Amino acid sequence: MSAQAPRLGNAETILVTGAAGFVGSHVVDLLLSEGRTVVALDSFEPFYPRPVKERNLARARESANFRFVELDTRDRYGIRALVDEVRPATIVDFAARAGVRDSLIDPWLYIDINVRGLQNVLAAAAEVGAAFVFASSSSIYGASTRLPFREDEAEGRPLSPYGATKVAGEALVHAHRAMTGLPIRIARLFTVYGPRQRPDLAVYKFARLMLDGASIPLYSEGRATRDYTFVGDIAAAFSALIASDADDLTVNLGSHRPYSNLELVRALERVLGRSATLDLLPAQPGDAPATFADITQARSAIGWEPLTTLDDGLAAFRAWFLEEPG
Ligand SMILES: NC(=O)c1ccc[n+]([C@@H]2O[C@H](COP(=O)([O-])OP(=O)(O)OC[C@H]3O[C@@H](n4cnc5c(N)ncnc54)[C@H](O)[C@@H]3O)[C@@H](O)[C@H]2O)c1
Repeated sequence: MSAQAPRLGNAETILVTGAAGFVGSHVVDLLLSEGRTVVALDSFEPFYPRPVKERNLARARESANFRFVELDTRDRYGIRALVDEVRPATIVDFAARAGVRDSLIDPWLYIDINVRGLQNVLAAAAEVGAAFVFASSSSIYGASTRLPFREDEAEGRPLSPYGATKVAGEALVHAHRAMTGLPIRIARLFTVYGPRQRPDLAVYKFARLMLDGASIPLYSEGRATRDYTFVGDIAAAFSALIASDADDLTVNLGSHRPYSNLELVRALERVLGRSATLDLLPAQPGDAPATFADITQARSAIGWEPLTTLDDGLAAFRAWFLEEPG
């Protein structure tokens, strides 16, 4: 492929991978509401149950501008054939095995999906000249003590195999840009929460335990802090990243307001009207002591502002959570 590949894509069509997941499905819904045409793919990877992901897609499936394809990014030729057919202007890549803790048990699976699968999508993007928007993670910052985290201060020293696959993913995206000259935009997401929350994440787990009257295991004795970021704000950022004409951009997407896990529990108690029983435990391997995003770059490059307070975001989570079966 030549260094300055022409942009061949259909200006209206956006391909979203991992579209049935928590974050991807919100981005799809927002893009459709903006009048975009979306082709979505997902493999229904069994990290959590397929029916949950099918429900995430329910609203999108009502749109005439939406097409869904069940496909695994590890299927190199399947991905290539789909991208050849759709010729998207932009590919937004959420397909990944997420979750820090499981990556300590089966790092090979994470490498297979988050690195090898990603390369398949990048190679297909190169073939059709699509811009590439990549969902990276705050976990690439590891235990960096310089807070808040700035994009240009990442040291490439993650604490878990999951974080390592995101460091590798960013490197592959940069290599892709060096080889093709195509636009890339990397978004580092900070602890996303809200409706459709992944069941392995703290907000969901804590809420479930609280409603069941069970005690909540709080690692690092509840002192670890996270920059909890509302999924609606994240979706707005992705819409802006897609619309942006930046050729090579990396942005943190965090609320710039960290809370300790203990503060999160207190906020959930207020929103759910329940009180929690706590089981204070030591830190776990793989867990970062703190995350905190410097968002100067996202503010200036895409005009993004995280607007949702923790209490408002948790209230939106609650409304969805109480409707969820089981
Ligand atoms: N949720 C967060 O707090 C957070 C934070 C940082 C980064 N991220 C990143 O954002 C992206 C979305 O995360 P999420 O929380 O929505 O997770 P999720 O598990 O809900 O969504 C990921 C989706 O990708 C699909 N998928 C997995 N492997 C696939 C494959 N090989 N081919 C096709 N589809 C595949 C899954 O079935 C799932 O629907 C991921 O890349 C994740 O690493 C999320």
